[in-house]
Amino acid sequence: MKGKILVAGGMGFIGSHTTVELQNAGFEVVIVDNLSNSNIEVLDGIERITGIRPAFVEADCTDMVAMRRLFDEHKGINGIIDFAASKAVGESMQKPIMYYRNNLNILLNLLELMPEYGVKGFVFSSSCTVYGEPDHNPITEDAPTKKATSPYGATKQVSEDIIADVIRSGSPIKAILLRYFNPIGAHPSAEIGELPNGVPANLVPYLTQTAIGVRKELSIFGNDYDTPDGTCIRDFINVVDLAKAHVVALERMLDNKSEEALEVFNIGTGDGVSVQQLLDAFERSTGVKVPHKYVARRPGDIVKIWADPKKANEVLGWKAEATLDDTMLSAWKWQQRLRERGIM
Ligand code: NAD
Ligand code: WQD
Repeated sequence: MKGKILVAGGMGFIGSHTTVELQNAGFEVVIVDNLSNSNIEVLDGIERITGIRPAFVEADCTDMVAMRRLFDEHKGINGIIDFAASKAVGESMQKPIMYYRNNLNILLNLLELMPEYGVKGFVFSSSCTVYGEPDHNPITEDAPTKKATSPYGATKQVSEDIIADVIRSGSPIKAILLRYFNPIGAHPSAEIGELPNGVPANLVPYLTQTAIGVRKELSIFGNDYDTPDGTCIRDFINVVDLAKAHVVALERMLDNKSEEALEVFNIGTGDGVSVQQLLDAFERSTGVKVPHKYVARRPGDIVKIWADPKKANEVLGWKAEATLDDTMLSAWKWQQRLRERGIM
């Protein structure tokens, strides 16, 4: 056993995939989640893939009493990954107080409890949203962050600042901020994947739901941008590749490989892929045609952003490996599995 890791929000999309990779790497995992955006069957999926059922505590991470109980009952936690957050950009515009309260209180509680319980390493789920519309692509970690355009984005920026302040104050912890680009796809086994709530706002779940007939047509928001095919450009990162970045980040801190107490890494492929190219890759790899139309631009969309992942490649020794076609196939397989299970 390499160590015991608390995965906050571990029942969610990225947390469940990361739990699988942590267990595959020999870590013991304790998940804490309030199931506000996930469900209990995720544990079965993780167990079917890895043969190990992680410990699970159903609790709200904003509840300090429940969190203390968790640390008292699960002694010897060495590291924490904080995935727990509310994450819908549109909803955050309607419910800013809920977003600030949830996302920031989770973080504050975890940071306060770490020294009390001797927890050494902290990985935080940040986002490329902190960069806003980049002046240059690919974007490096030292590029300036820009004022957030949503309360959700603001919680990521403030969270990064809070972690830096806590470390600067002398807290005996190490932290790594992982700035994810656009996580997509599912585990190739289709045992776990993304479970969007209601009508998906994100491209890939909307696309796969259209392909399977839940949605009539995919709307492509804008094809008149200043890009080669007129659609926006993103860095779509396979969720299993993304999950593996957390494992190496934790190992770096727990094995004392880093000099710095706080480090930041872009987690992306380094390739800018347009919305049109992603749709083409889906149709090519699955052989399924997706009804679609081109509509007006979505207000607030970034035109183009993709990562320079060189720092993660060189310092963490991590690199995105999945091809876009494989990732699209995994997303499709997951959508089909949801249909078989009568969920979607
Ligand atoms: P998700 O909603 O699938 O997972 C988050 C999990 O946290 C859910 O299982 C939810 O039930 C849980 N949770 C929320 N509030 C909680 C609370 N108060 N107490 C306990 N559990 C709570 O989201 P995801 O896509 O897996 O994202 C994980 C993290 O990565 C989030 O912090 C998100 O902001 C960040 N992120 C996601 C993306 C993306 O596109 N998916 C991109 C960049 C960053
Ligand atoms: C991608 C592209 C859309 C849906 C969001 C958050 C960001 C980060 C990742 C967490 C855009 C286009 C989409 C559709 C479309 N999350 N699109 N039709 O906007 O890059 O980022 O998720 O930190 O903070 O803002 O992702 O998947 O919504 O959109 O044409 O039905 O697909 O216009 O160009 P985005 P997305």
